[in-house]
Amino acid sequence: MKKLKVGLVGCGSIAGYAHFPSYERMKDIVDLVAVADIVPEKAKAAAEKYGVPHWYDSVEALLAAEPDVDYIDVCTWPAAHAPVAIAAAKAGKHVICEKPLAATLEQGLAIEKAVREAGVQFMLAVCTRYEGQSQKFIELRDQGIFGDIYFAKTAYVRSRGVPGGWFTNKAIAGGGPVLDVGVHAIDRTWYFMGRPKPISVTAEISSRIGKYNGESTFTWDAAEKNDKEIFDVEDSACALFRFEGGKSMIAETSWTINGRDENYSTIYGTKAGCDFHPLTIYAQDENGKFGKTAIEVEGVDSYEWEIRHFIDCLNTGKKPISPIEDAVTVQRMLDGIYRSAEAHAEVKI
Ligand SMILES: NC(=O)c1ccc[n+]([C@@H]2O[C@H](COP(=O)([O-])OP(=O)(O)OC[C@H]3O[C@@H](n4cnc5c(N)ncnc54)[C@H](O)[C@@H]3O)[C@@H](O)[C@H]2O)c1
Repeated sequence: MKKLKVGLVGCGSIAGYAHFPSYERMKDIVDLVAVADIVPEKAKAAAEKYGVPHWYDSVEALLAAEPDVDYIDVCTWPAAHAPVAIAAAKAGKHVICEKPLAATLEQGLAIEKAVREAGVQFMLAVCTRYEGQSQKFIELRDQGIFGDIYFAKTAYVRSRGVPGGWFTNKAIAGGGPVLDVGVHAIDRTWYFMGRPKPISVTAEISSRIGKYNGESTFTWDAAEKNDKEIFDVEDSACALFRFEGGKSMIAETSWTINGRDENYSTIYGTKAGCDFHPLTIYAQDENGKFGKTAIEVEGVDSYEWEIRHFIDCLNTGKKPISPIEDAVTVQRMLDGIYRSAEAHAEVKI
């Protein structure tokens, strides 16, 4: 297997929490040769901390100086995903990009166009698809134990957890909890269902209390604080998606709500149902008795696992578990939530 070279762009929280530590543990298969950040001090500090040989103040500078890089790892805020990913694709580099795909559907479609035109691999780093429970779920589903999955419910609900910095600024984040945490719940549940074709969505969003609980109970240490007063996104949302074949999914998400924390997916099939977090199967046994069975799954570091998977795809030519077409479909679903909420009506996806 070829040892790949990677350039990481966006030296903030998720890079420090997940990507840099993962690369430190994968030195046998990948060399982190350069980092970039529009705040040069952050790029320099990351390079010094993690022993990365070169640092730059833009993806363009990195690409110009490091023509041997095989892929770019995009860890910037959402509004920068498109410019950075497109620059990388145009330079012939493969791309792994943090969720959400982009701040807007238009930006997501522009990434898709650039990736397809360049013929490079693209993977969306939706880490919950890469959890041990998720992969076990797919294994059980593909054995046919759930039958035809026709309905699902999911939530990623924080009762108190408004992030600070750019997360509440629509121009940078693209949206609130829908694009931040709802994307995980909706993406993985749709993936568990077998990626049925979305037809329409009816949704509402709310921004009634987030602003007033705006002092974050979460601290994102590297997040920029200077735009903290901007809060022009939703603080919660609910949606009903219709899929081809009369299938459907109900989704909820929030950063702040006067209720309990939730992070689950429940899938209903014709033979069995299944909860995710923790993985539990609901079915009748051979005697017709209905009950539940918990499935033990060994935990994995989903961040490291997703990067390992991407490297494996680049080495083998395999398609990633979360490819560009899935990223675009999920972005269309998220965009549909905002359009439906604005129209207060069901909209086509
Ligand atoms: N998978 C997960 O569970 C998870 C968790 C947290 C964040 N994220 C995602 O990771 C991304 C980054 O979030 P974060 O919390 O690390 O934010 P952050 O603000 O801490 O870091 C983002 C960094 O990108 C830099 N940047 C912005 N535009 C740039 C550009 N054009 N070129 C180079 N650098 C640029 C900023 O200066 C900053 O240092 C977001 O898309 C977020 O949704 C994912």
